Amino acid sequence: MSAVSTPLVSVRNLVKQYDGRKKLFGGAGFSLRAVDDVSFDIAPGETLGLVGESGSGKSTTGRVLLQLEPPTSGEVLFKGETISGLKSSRMKRFRREMQIVFQDPYSALDPRMTVGDFVAEPILVHESLSSAERRERAAGLFRLVGLDPSFMSRYPHEFSGGQRQRINIARAVALRPSFIVADEPITALDVSIQAQIINLFQDLQEEMGLAYLFVAHDLSMVRYLCHRVAVMLRGRIVEIAPAEALFEDARHPYTQALLTAIPVPDPRIERQRRHRPFDLSVHGPKPGQELREVGPNHFVLS
Ligand SMILES: Nc1ncnc2c1ncn2[C@@H]1O[C@H](COP(=O)(O)OP(=O)(O)OP(=O)(O)O)[C@@H](O)[C@H]1O
Ligand SMILES: [Mg+2]
Repeated sequence: MSAVSTPLVSVRNLVKQYDGRKKLFGGAGFSLRAVDDVSFDIAPGETLGLVGESGSGKSTTGRVLLQLEPPTSGEVLFKGETISGLKSSRMKRFRREMQIVFQDPYSALDPRMTVGDFVAEPILVHESLSSAERRERAAGLFRLVGLDPSFMSRYPHEFSGGQRQRINIARAVALRPSFIVADEPITALDVSIQAQIINLFQDLQEEMGLAYLFVAHDLSMVRYLCHRVAVMLRGRIVEIAPAEALFEDARHPYTQALLTAIPVPDPRIERQRRHRPFDLSVHGPKPGQELREVGPNHFVLS
């Protein structure tokens, strides 16, 4: 992990609340804190995993972090500058540096656009290059993600899921960002393809010094990719630690439950393992709890 002191990204006490209006004829209103007082830093070149069950607030954290939605309260800093509430003209500079890759590699693509134009589009918007120069840049991006540039004139439906995700990744790195939110980018892919895409993320990180917020609902996926891992439950971070500490010495009952949910390849050992039940009413996050340090860089909600 990098030892740089100024974080690339800082999230400070982020809250995102969704309020549903009361219906005119019956039907109660609702108020849901999808993200509830979340704070973390990401260093340049670092990968922070964000793990938790469906509905725990992972995608909302990613979207609010990138200012795709405004926070209810709290702030996001990028390279030490606050970006919460910036006007779109001032946000443009940051937009280039922060990108997102989504779970479904097909719906992210535009079916009517050649994949070459799709990858080159951010360059067209942000940089004044001739069309030949733009093509050359796009071809370089195709090679970078392991695709033959001769594919550039084809359409999305001609590609496999793994290839489509490579195309999305090529577009995400087109403007040489320093940070990418990867929101379950391998969940929709065949298991045999997942490792290849993970490797691609790692290669790009080495080559470009990228930092990632890598969202997953399963701890096994983030084990080898992430420097640190944050575990989210009901909108709160219940544990955040260097990956090794989290896997060797998980402290929060929810993290422990997630760990025992990862199957062990040996069926004899697997049969003998005790799967810890997790009781949300006993061990779930409670108001007033705070993240407390239990080891180097290792924090647990208690
Ligand atoms: N625009 C919205 N309006 C109202 N509620 C929302 C909205 N977006 C998300 N939510 C709610 O916020 C909570 C967190 O959702 P979010 O999509 O962030 O979870 P997630 O951890 O990404 O889940 P998944 O693993 O299923 O992708 C959920 O209860 C969801 O229903
Ligand atoms: Mg999600």
